[in-house]
Amino acid sequence: MTSLTLRRPDDWHLHLRDGAMLRAVLPETARHFARAIIMPNLVPPVVTAAQAAEYRDRIMAAKPDNSKFQPLMTLYLTEDTDVRDLRAAAEIGLITAVKLYPAGATTNSASGVKDMTKVKRVLDNMAQIGLPLCVHGEVTDPDVDIFDREAVFIDTVLDPIRRDIPGLRVVMEHITTRQGADYARDGGPDLAATITTHHLVINRNHILAGGIKPHYYCLPVAKREEHRLALRKAATSGDPTYFLGTDSAPHTDANKLLPCGCAGCFTATNTLSILAEVFEQENALNQLEKFASLNGPTFYKLPVNEDTITLTKGDPVAYPDQIATEDGPVTVFDPQMLLHWQVSSSS
Ligand code: NCD
Ligand code: ZN
Repeated sequence: MTSLTLRRPDDWHLHLRDGAMLRAVLPETARHFARAIIMPNLVPPVVTAAQAAEYRDRIMAAKPDNSKFQPLMTLYLTEDTDVRDLRAAAEIGLITAVKLYPAGATTNSASGVKDMTKVKRVLDNMAQIGLPLCVHGEVTDPDVDIFDREAVFIDTVLDPIRRDIPGLRVVMEHITTRQGADYARDGGPDLAATITTHHLVINRNHILAGGIKPHYYCLPVAKREEHRLALRKAATSGDPTYFLGTDSAPHTDANKLLPCGCAGCFTATNTLSILAEVFEQENALNQLEKFASLNGPTFYKLPVNEDTITLTKGDPVAYPDQIATEDGPVTVFDPQMLLHWQVSSSS
């Protein structure tokens, strides 16, 4: 196969930031993606409907001319989230989901949830109206090894919540483990999982063996090879449980290359080329449309995109090592493999 036409894909987990960074990174996603779920972990976080509306307006203003890209907004769940404000935002279609960050789990998560009992009323309301909860699924207990934090979260936090609030629709964001893939698959129609591009490519050796590689450090951190293989199997299975959420998370190199560097891989620029290569390696190019374009809208109960993109296979494609921003360069994720597929046309 040398050419592949897909319905235009969506990104179900994306960090666009704000200001100069927003202006620099938005075109990288808007080029090929129709929609994206926009993460609310700004400083300060997007916690109210008014903040979500203002952030959406800033994204629309930063969009390249003629782009039809549509941001799907989220609210950042806190222990003080106002149920009426949230319900009103959902009713008018301003928000598509709510994001749960356990306090301290990742970048800009300090205002997240410490005590799940404090958000029970909000979650009950979300279950009533069918508003999905996007979950950063890691415990923050310093006694739990960082490589175990996802599996422990599933057992000690996620599973109890789902039992307590039947009907709550949950997306397990950026799963990184076999346990995550299995739990999502077995959870019925109200449970789904996003998988990032980079977790299909790297395992923890890529971060730590032969010298530390800050550009491969993200959260949840990449795990052992057996988990990467489980994620590849899940993503390429065609199972409607799984869909693409790149978690493309730009930080300037200055902020990555520090004694305490930021977590996040920036994959917006080359994601579709990498995915096509991965799916071809798995003999599953025919499942790429489900993963990138069909399963996500189905879970979110949104229409699939009408237009298409075509990927063509040819000589290795070169991508820039970095993109420039007014705040300094952002390094583009290096998949350490030749990429032969690129988007050749859209309609
Ligand atoms: C994200 C960021 O930088 O905002 N970082 C990351 O490593 N993925 C936050 C997140 O999604 O955990
Ligand atoms: Zn993220």
